[in-house]
Amino acid sequence: MTSSRRYVSPLRYPGGKAAMTSWLADLFAQQTGDLPVEVWLEPFAGGAGAALTLLDRDAVNEAWLVDANPGIAAFWHTVVDDGPALAALVEQTTPTLTLYDECRALLVNPDDADRFRLGFAAFIVNRCSRSGIVAPTSGPMGGRSGAGGWSLDGRFNASALADRIRHVHGMRSRLRVHHGDGISYLEELADSGLSDEVVAFVDPPYIREGNRLYANGMDAGGHQRLADALNTSPARWVLTYDDEPVVANRLYPERRVLGYDIRNTANRARVAREYAVFSDNLDVRGLSTPLRGLNAEWVRAAARPRAA
Ligand SMILES: C[S@@+](CC[C@H](N)C(=O)[O-])C[C@H]1O[C@@H](n2cnc3c(N)ncnc32)[C@H](O)[C@@H]1O
Repeated sequence: MTSSRRYVSPLRYPGGKAAMTSWLADLFAQQTGDLPVEVWLEPFAGGAGAALTLLDRDAVNEAWLVDANPGIAAFWHTVVDDGPALAALVEQTTPTLTLYDECRALLVNPDDADRFRLGFAAFIVNRCSRSGIVAPTSGPMGGRSGAGGWSLDGRFNASALADRIRHVHGMRSRLRVHHGDGISYLEELADSGLSDEVVAFVDPPYIREGNRLYANGMDAGGHQRLADALNTSPARWVLTYDDEPVVANRLYPERRVLGYDIRNTANRARVAREYAVFSDNLDVRGLSTPLRGLNAEWVRAAARPRAA
């Protein structure tokens, strides 16, 4: 059993899986093989809450983060390459509506901005939007009038955020960041010969609400492409989704599926039912014990490998 210390990501992401990190750490720790399993891959990284906690606890040697959202990828690239300068800028920043609007405008044409400015802009929009969504369509926390008991800087404790950025920067030699499509990344991993060393934690946009919650959502074709990549991948993986019947019935009809309840990070008053789907080669012994608090039960306890 690993320690229960939880590192809090500087990015605040709707649907983040921080509550599951102890369970994920235990899951990672019990994987064995001819080669040591060393890499934690998040092909849909967002706030990368699990990856950063696992790195911080030394539960994994390396974490690889992939995100299709250019702002999010630029933020992580900047934390890794230029963390002290970013932290210093954050420490000097007091969010205003003018700054918020400038940052949001930068997200419209991300290719025109340099990576540092884009990463900073994504961070400001993330911390100062109620939703946490990094998109030009996001709205400022508290609205434009600051009504409703929320203020724009209500989640902007500059010195604490700067410390979190410095802390991730301190782990940079064990972090790899890639801007791009997580599904293509998984497909390429399958051909790379590195699959044995990797456990992928796959946390894509939800099927039901994903396109509302993220700037980079996924359509039915995207969910199917992901299923095709995972169902044929030699890597070990665990995937989390909302409890849509299509997950167990159509996308992963042969894989083990576990249902569990989790407090929704976008709306903490709500407990949401989710599914975890497992690759056949992932060792899930003892899995239900740490998940007991999450009211977990198998939807399908045994894989049904395809007939040859
Ligand atoms: C559910 S969030 C991940 C939350 C994350 N586990 C955390 O702890 O914050 C999904 C993320 O996937 C990203 N995304 C959507 N489509 C993608 C794709 N095709 N490839 C890579 N990332 C994608 C979104 O930008 C978003 O950051």
